[in-house]
Amino acid sequence: MSTLKIINLHASVDGKEILKGVNLEIHEGETVALLGPNGHGKSTLLSVIMGHPRYEVTEGSIYFDDKNVLELPVDERSKLGLFLGMQSPSEIPGVINSDFLKAAVNARREKPISTYNFYKVLDQATKELKMPFDLATRSLNEGFSGGEKKRNEILQMELLKPKIAMLDEIDSGLDVDAMQVVADVINKEKDEGHGFLVISHYARLYDMIHPTRAVVMINGRIVLDGGPEIFKRIDQTGYEFIKTEYGVNIEKDDIEMNKVSIGTCAVKESIK
Ligand SMILES: Nc1ncnc2c1ncn2[C@@H]1O[C@H](COP(=O)(O)OP(=O)(O)OP(=O)(O)O)[C@@H](O)[C@H]1O
Ligand SMILES: [Mg+2]
Repeated sequence: MSTLKIINLHASVDGKEILKGVNLEIHEGETVALLGPNGHGKSTLLSVIMGHPRYEVTEGSIYFDDKNVLELPVDERSKLGLFLGMQSPSEIPGVINSDFLKAAVNARREKPISTYNFYKVLDQATKELKMPFDLATRSLNEGFSGGEKKRNEILQMELLKPKIAMLDEIDSGLDVDAMQVVADVINKEKDEGHGFLVISHYARLYDMIHPTRAVVMINGRIVLDGGPEIFKRIDQTGYEFIKTEYGVNIEKDDIEMNKVSIGTCAVKESIK
């Protein structure tokens, strides 16, 4: 059973420190919900774990079993069994989705998969995800709808079978039926013993995939680590109790920034 271990992780982007000492352990076989207010570092954490070059790790370490993850390039992290389903997947014109998927699958095998077998697996996975097969033959994410992009991330996950999949707001943009389809795939992978770190702002997805743990990130740190009751409470009451019961002050720099830059009545109302 593999374990992803994050110890006192600090990371910056363009000189601004976003992660300020993250400690977190995820075991293969666990499904962990990662919650937190907007702009507090959740996506940054996932990008740093996966090795996005934009972020500079200034302190701390990440281990996947005995492997020092921070020393490895992105493809090696993927081969270890880590996967990131992105919040905003990029469009890559000219790269055919199925070619990209096949290359990713082959990168993890000693002998390349035959074209026949690959298309068999791809056909089955697209059917499970109720995706039109033509999405697999188009340029990667180019012109895909929001929901199609998210399903395509899950398609990649299905083909790569990671030990720990990190899914960043995979439910945003999915209609209710599509969310159930995606949840079914996640549940199938869970039953096979795979681990998940799932970011979502809404209880609906969590109600479908039943996380075993919930952790909350505020101001670039994990401030709460407990059972599923945490996301139920956040869904019903928001984050205020974390301030009143745990004494964690929730910095609101970005909301203040938005007030100045956007300045619409709606925004002003919502931040009162
Ligand atoms: N180039 C940059 N310079 C300064 N700050 C940045 C830069 N890129 C990202 N940030 C800031 O990093 C912070 C953390 O962003 P991140 O995307 O990790 O938040 P999040 O917790 O995933 O939020 P959400 O729930 O909205 O997705 C944000 O305040 C964001 O504005
Ligand atoms: Mg995010």
